[in-house]
Amino acid sequence: LPDGLAKTPPMGFNNWNATGCDINEKMIRDTADIFVTSGLKKAGYEYVNIDDCWAEPERDPRTGRLVPHHERFPSGIEALADYVHGKGLKLGIYTSAGTQTCAKTMPGSLDHEEVDAQTFADWGVDYLKYDNCNNQGRPALERYTRMRDALRKTGRPIVYSLCEWGENKPWEWGKDVGHLWRTTGDINDSWTSMVTLLKQNAPLAPYAGPGQWNDPDMLEVGNGGMTDREYRSHFSLWAAMAAPLLIGADLRKASPATMEILGNRDVIAVDQDPLGVQGRVLRNADGHWVIVKPLAGGDVAVTLFNETEDVATFGATAAELGLPARKAYVVRDLWAHRDFETAGSFSASVPAHGTVMYRIRAGGDWGRRPPLGEFGA
Ligand code: GLA
Repeated sequence: LPDGLAKTPPMGFNNWNATGCDINEKMIRDTADIFVTSGLKKAGYEYVNIDDCWAEPERDPRTGRLVPHHERFPSGIEALADYVHGKGLKLGIYTSAGTQTCAKTMPGSLDHEEVDAQTFADWGVDYLKYDNCNNQGRPALERYTRMRDALRKTGRPIVYSLCEWGENKPWEWGKDVGHLWRTTGDINDSWTSMVTLLKQNAPLAPYAGPGQWNDPDMLEVGNGGMTDREYRSHFSLWAAMAAPLLIGADLRKASPATMEILGNRDVIAVDQDPLGVQGRVLRNADGHWVIVKPLAGGDVAVTLFNETEDVATFGATAAELGLPARKAYVVRDLWAHRDFETAGSFSASVPAHGTVMYRIRAGGDWGRRPPLGEFGA
């Protein structure tokens, strides 16, 4: 949506990948605290989002409103929003464009769009993830548009995330309806799932831009099903695709390696680059991927991802990346955090399942950035 929200991909947290339904207000408060104390807030993480199962199974019979679950959220959502806002952060919530949510523990918002949007606005909610379960076979565009209009009517700026799983090609209509749209089914904490979602999301690069993002689902970094090297690849690839960076791990139990991955400001800067271009796959030669993301000011990010089981050396030339011819280029290695110079070949030895990410500096006399169309296919 071209309303000034989500000009860069949303960053924050959502509990679903870590806890499923087993959510409570303490986890949300603890996560907000950790955002501040760990430096993740300074690194850009802003939204602390609640997923499914936060409400009672029945609406308030008098007002028709959703009621916060008395055991999981005894203080209510408004108090939680106040707490999160007090930390300089924002609060997100969840419901479904159906009669019930996906976990079927609470009502959905279908035909209750206005009362629910107003409830969220009254509570001070800043972000809505709107799911697709129990939709009664009604058209997606109609259901998602009704909630857009209801949110708009409240007058509160609320980031609107369409969780439609890519079923009705939301990349074709999503930019007029929400700020981001899921392009895939649910992620799980495995290498296979992560690579599958990469392959579904990467070709959709032309549809992304400021206020309109492809969403290949939330991060699994830190949940234990992949190695730290694989999690570095997951994080790099999501950044290269300008995906939302929603942490899906319980930060109270996160390892130093997890915190280091999630807090990598060099990689985050690629994701959050104001030009807002999703990286394009220059090539994928038998699992040796080269993804190119043009950045504001003429810098270029190159992501070298090795999907295979063997170490390999590969990369791209300056000409392939659309860079002007030069004797030498200044490059930053975004995981080693080291600058070096190279004479026009950007390659690396990449370990199995690993990723090397470079940022090529435009420099003073770089000249103009080539038009976007020249980057890859
Ligand atoms: C769907 C969504 C998930 C999560 C669950 C909650 O599966 O795609 O991201 O929100 O519902 O039940």
